[in-house]
Formats: sequence, structure tokens, C-alpha cells
Amino acid sequence: MKSQISSATGPRGPVNKTRPGVKPSTIARILSPVDVGEFLSSYFERRPLVIRGTGDKFNYLFTPDKFKIGLDRVTEIRAVFPDLWQAQIHPADIKEMIGAGASICITGLEKAHPRLLKITESIKRELNYGGSLSFRSYLSPPGAGFDLHFDARVATTLQIAGCKRWWFSTAPAAKFPTNNSPRQLKILQSQYSVPKLKQLRSVLLRPGDLLCLPAGTWHRARAQSMSLALNLAFDHNGAGIFDVILAALHKKLRDDPEWRSPLPAVIQGERDAFPPEIATILRERIDIMQRALCDMRDSDAALKHAWMNSLSSGPQ
Ligand SMILES: [Fe+2]
Repeated sequence: MKSQISSATGPRGPVNKTRPGVKPSTIARILSPVDVGEFLSSYFERRPLVIRGTGDKFNYLFTPDKFKIGLDRVTEIRAVFPDLWQAQIHPADIKEMIGAGASICITGLEKAHPRLLKITESIKRELNYGGSLSFRSYLSPPGAGFDLHFDARVATTLQIAGCKRWWFSTAPAAKFPTNNSPRQLKILQSQYSVPKLKQLRSVLLRPGDLLCLPAGTWHRARAQSMSLALNLAFDHNGAGIFDVILAALHKKLRDDPEWRSPLPAVIQGERDAFPPEIATILRERIDIMQRALCDMRDSDAALKHAWMNSLSSGPQ
């Protein structure tokens, strides 16, 4: 069976299809030397991908000296301990938490770094991605990391400094999950078949390496030396196909007051009988909705409009 993990080895790997003299797109530069088209058709949201890079590959994005900048503007700073015990902390607590063996996770990093914000906007545009993109950073002392879990988003780890070992499953625990895996082991084990460590693939990430995992993929990480990594997260929540069609349908029907009208009030006690007029109204409305959906299905312009609208109005 063909390996599900690509291990392109930097300059010796496949060449990105960029024409000479044409500046590569933002996503092409991050994925280089793997071709963006191949990434989308074979890996993104499908299977794990490892791309080896030179040590300075991501220096233009982030360097260790930038870690402390703008910590008052990020979404959240968390100290994460073994078994995923974690707490929100203030910037002043970071040094002490690192000393106590915690991994420091910063979410919403793009709010503190205009360059990272610009990169998320560029990639969203370049890939016509309807979900939201954000950056996180992880600072982990040797031995620290994250215990086994899965996330409700594509995790794209860019190793900036130090080395970190990752373990990951080749198949997701849940496809396009709406939530991260439960933190408590008892709840996790009651809901999912939790893989053993030896069943997982393992890779050591060095500076310049990239690991992209589909949403819902089991993973675990441990720093081997003081490790700093960026994580480019692709979040599908609120941007599923159901959301796109529902938003288009809502836009089409919302101006008609008949759709804003509540169902007729029913005297208490008659509820169990299910009044026939309620059933009639619901059937009439479903018929109208069905016709609206069919009109949308048969019109390329309407479908394109729904798609374009989802790109501009989806979750940011
Ligand atoms: Fe994770």
C-alpha cells in the first residue's frame, strides 16, 4: 500500500509548479516544494502530510524573538500540562509555567502580528476557503507537549525552532467534528476507540518542517528540545455545505413575511392531538422551500452566488 505520508525532502522534493519570474502565492511558499494542486487533491482534509524544509524556511513568518510581542492583543494564552490539564494565564505567568513544565499555547496570534493576519487573508483568498483561518503558537520546554486528542480543525504545524516529536493517526477519529475531543480520558474512552501509541505514525519535526493533519485526526506531541511552533488552523465550523445552502435559502426567503410568521397558537391540552392546520401549514411551507431549492439547483448563477457569498460572509 502506498504510504499516506509524503516526506518531500526540501530542495530534493517535487518542484512547485510556479512559472519563472512569477512570485509564488502565499500558500505555495509555505507548502514548497509540494505543489498546491497536489496538496488540495491528495492531502488537505484527506490524509496527513509531512513536508521537510530547510531550517530558515519559516523565518519570514515568525522567529522566537517575536513570541513575546503583542501578547495583550491575542485571543488567549493557555498553560497546558500532562493529561491536557490546562488554564488560561497572563503573559507575566509564561516564564513560571514553562519552568513548571507546561506547554504555552497562544490562540489568535494573528491579532498581534499584522503579517500573520495578512497571510491568513491571502491564503483564504488563494484557496477560496469558506472557513476561518487563524494562527496559534506553541512554546514547549523539553518533555512538554500535548497528550492524545483531536481537534475540530485542520492543524498545520510549522516548526520554527527546536525539535518536537509528533504521533498521529492516518485516519480521523471523527470526520469534520464540531468539537475538539473531550479532555477527560473517561469521557473520551466512552465515546471513541482511542488508539494506542504504537498504532500511531511518528515523525520528528525540525525547524522548517511542516505537518498538516485533517480535522479529527488523533495526535500527540512532545518537545525534544525547547520548541517553538506555529499552527495555521483551517476551521470548517459554520462553513459546511449545509451552512452554505441554508444561508442562500435564508437570503432568498427571509424577506417574505409569511416565513417570519409563527405557527398558529394552540390551546394547551390539544398539543398531543397535533392540529391538522399546523401540518397543512408546514407542508405548504416545505413545498415552497423545495421549489426554492430546485430553482437554486437548476441555476448556475444562483449556485455561484451562494458560493461567492459563503466566501465573503463565512466565519472570519
Ligand atoms: Fe491539537
